Amino acid sequence: MRFSDRSRWNTEETALARAHRRRLAAGLPLADLTASNPTRCGFQYPENLLAALTDARALDYDPQPRGTLAARQAVCAYYADHGASVDPDRIILTTSTSEAYSFLFRLLLNPGEEILVPQPSYPLFDFLADLDDVCLRPAPLVYHDGWQIDPEGLRRALTPQTRALVLVHPNNPTGHFTKPWEAEALAQLCREHALSLIVDEVFLDYPMTGNEGTRERGTERTGSAETGEPGGGASPSFASGFDGLLARVPVFVVSGLSKIAGLPQMKAAWIVATGPEPERTGALARLEVIADTFLSMNAPIQCALPQWLERRSEINKKIRARVAANLAQLDAELAGVPAVERLALEGGWYAILRIPALAPDESTVLALLECGVWVHPGFFFGLPSAGWLVISLLPPVTEFRSGVTLLVDYLHKNQRSNITG
Ligand SMILES: Cc1ncc(COP(=O)(O)O)c(C=O)c1O
Repeated sequence: MRFSDRSRWNTEETALARAHRRRLAAGLPLADLTASNPTRCGFQYPENLLAALTDARALDYDPQPRGTLAARQAVCAYYADHGASVDPDRIILTTSTSEAYSFLFRLLLNPGEEILVPQPSYPLFDFLADLDDVCLRPAPLVYHDGWQIDPEGLRRALTPQTRALVLVHPNNPTGHFTKPWEAEALAQLCREHALSLIVDEVFLDYPMTGNEGTRERGTERTGSAETGEPGGGASPSFASGFDGLLARVPVFVVSGLSKIAGLPQMKAAWIVATGPEPERTGALARLEVIADTFLSMNAPIQCALPQWLERRSEINKKIRARVAANLAQLDAELAGVPAVERLALEGGWYAILRIPALAPDESTVLALLECGVWVHPGFFFGLPSAGWLVISLLPPVTEFRSGVTLLVDYLHKNQRSNITG
């Protein structure tokens, strides 16, 4: 059999995956500080959530390429809660944000053309790009008084093949919310180079609300969600929060149920096409053809989507409370380890730790696994190969506490043994 070049991945188990599998197989205890599947982190979901799936209207097959009107209107209501007026005709439903990306890559790029992606970022982009025969060009974010976009770095990373820029707002794993000055700089870049902007807002509903964002100093953010309730001062979406930009640049906002409603298993997401005409109408017509080719949305999920979106705050609040509690625990434990810095974050589910770069992070992660705690090496998200760990703030509090204690013990001893030689 001959395989395509695009699927020429190294599918061998990595040393980290092997060690992890063996530890689990040996039945040894492990606190998992990478856990980010909300359905497996001990949250009590509302019992009757699945009742929405028994809607008899789902017996009718109504193949709508953009998704059913009722489901798209529910997405509009979500944006209305974020202060954005979105027309249902500008929405295309997809089964995941990953599928939404894939539709957009096919809409915007020819094979071999490029997308700029600020890093650190979500690791799935590499595979999505491979599958759609497009290339990713990383452009580093900078960390100076919090994370920032580096417009000059992005400009340097541009080539004549660049067609689009991906922005994750707030970013995963940095938790960085795009500021108005950054949006303006991106708009200029996009205008000058005829780029489209793809904005991933899956973590939009997880801003930090108090002073938990940073250990050392307060961080300024473009909005806040004091209550976690829809309409309660929610974080600004690119579907409206950056109007000046939308008048000038084609912007595709992607999001979905996996994070905002804590329902990754339900497979429902969307693209909102915004920006100037006639590009917007042209983009929507082409996206409709792409969506029509697959018709991947299923009827019961589309029927249930309005209820799940409406009830999202029930789980969203619990997730936010968990993230805040775990972050406070982490900071309290780290207070005794001055050589380790927990980087400022403004939202999302992750925390980045800067540790002394004494060894490759892969060996640190392996050593931590031996101690009974499982964390991500920073390079998994595009950070350098030494000096960075990433942990999820979603695990159940007891597991998180024991994992952090093990992590801090290790870092403390390691730091001390280095000082004492
Ligand atoms: C930034 C970001 N975008 C998209 C996704 C994927 O979301 P979905 O489950 O809708 O494909 C993830 C998953 O973790 C993510 O972190």
